[in-house]
Amino acid sequence: MNNRPRIILDCDPGVDDAFAVVAAARWADLVGITTVAGNVSLACTTNNALRLRDLLGLEVPVHAGAEGPLKGTPVFADHVHGVDGLGGLDLPEPTSGPDSENAIEYLVETTRAEEGLHLVPIGPLTNIALALKADPSLAHRVASITLMGGSTQGLGNVTAGAEFNIYADPEAAEIVFQSDSPLTMIGLNLTHQVQVGAPEISFCQAVDSPVGAAMTHLLEFYADFYRNHLQAETGAMHDPCAVLAVTHPELFTFSPRAVSVETTGTHTRGMTVVDERGNGSDQTPNCAVAYQGEAAAIIDLIKQAIAES
Ligand code: BDR
Ligand code: CA
Repeated sequence: MNNRPRIILDCDPGVDDAFAVVAAARWADLVGITTVAGNVSLACTTNNALRLRDLLGLEVPVHAGAEGPLKGTPVFADHVHGVDGLGGLDLPEPTSGPDSENAIEYLVETTRAEEGLHLVPIGPLTNIALALKADPSLAHRVASITLMGGSTQGLGNVTAGAEFNIYADPEAAEIVFQSDSPLTMIGLNLTHQVQVGAPEISFCQAVDSPVGAAMTHLLEFYADFYRNHLQAETGAMHDPCAVLAVTHPELFTFSPRAVSVETTGTHTRGMTVVDERGNGSDQTPNCAVAYQGEAAAIIDLIKQAIAES
């Protein structure tokens, strides 16, 4: 028996998603993986999840979910993650296919069979919203929905005000934020504190294993994007922060906030509006918002997960 938090990772791998899978495999009790269209198409994110499952030797189901957002057409981030989603990483084709193509049913049924699971969405929130629509009481069966997405203070990365995971499906995000679930938001305001670059590449290079080699490639690809497109020597390691906020909450500070998602604004569609008025607010908080993270300790846990995989 172990008492690590039991989580379902809902992901769109995705370079930083791959690090989240590694972190989840090491620090959580990973129950299952669901995939969603996001950084790249659903076919690619599912294929990547399956290849990562093989790389890590995981015995967890992978269920494919939504092919696109609730409204409109998919938005991808292949300019960040590469056309395949993993920066051209040379991994063998998966040894088996997805366990189902119905992630929504898996989320509903698994949370019915076992209460107290943590859902950790690190891609667009389409699967989680569809599961909540199919069974709104899911909101009260989970220990948390700890999502990577959004930001405080109107900080975006796709647009001036919108973060990718929310921007890619704002209607789904708003359903999740208003679902009365025990929500935790790990936004850009937090993940930008967790910067990786040359030292982490050197660390991965020294890990003499297939996982070390794969993570080296991914970090080098990521560093090239940050250098060439953003003139930065480091990049934010977003998605593992959501996993570690569940497994190591002592490394984060959280404050209760009322958060809603702008779905109609001409310039602000996909922005998370975080009420920071304190006692002056007339809104009831619906979310624990992460504000500070102990970046060095968070990066150490990611490195340890890579070395021990
Ligand atoms: C989020 O968007 C995606 O590109 C990353 O995988 C992460 O989940 C950061 O905005
Ligand atoms: Ca992601």
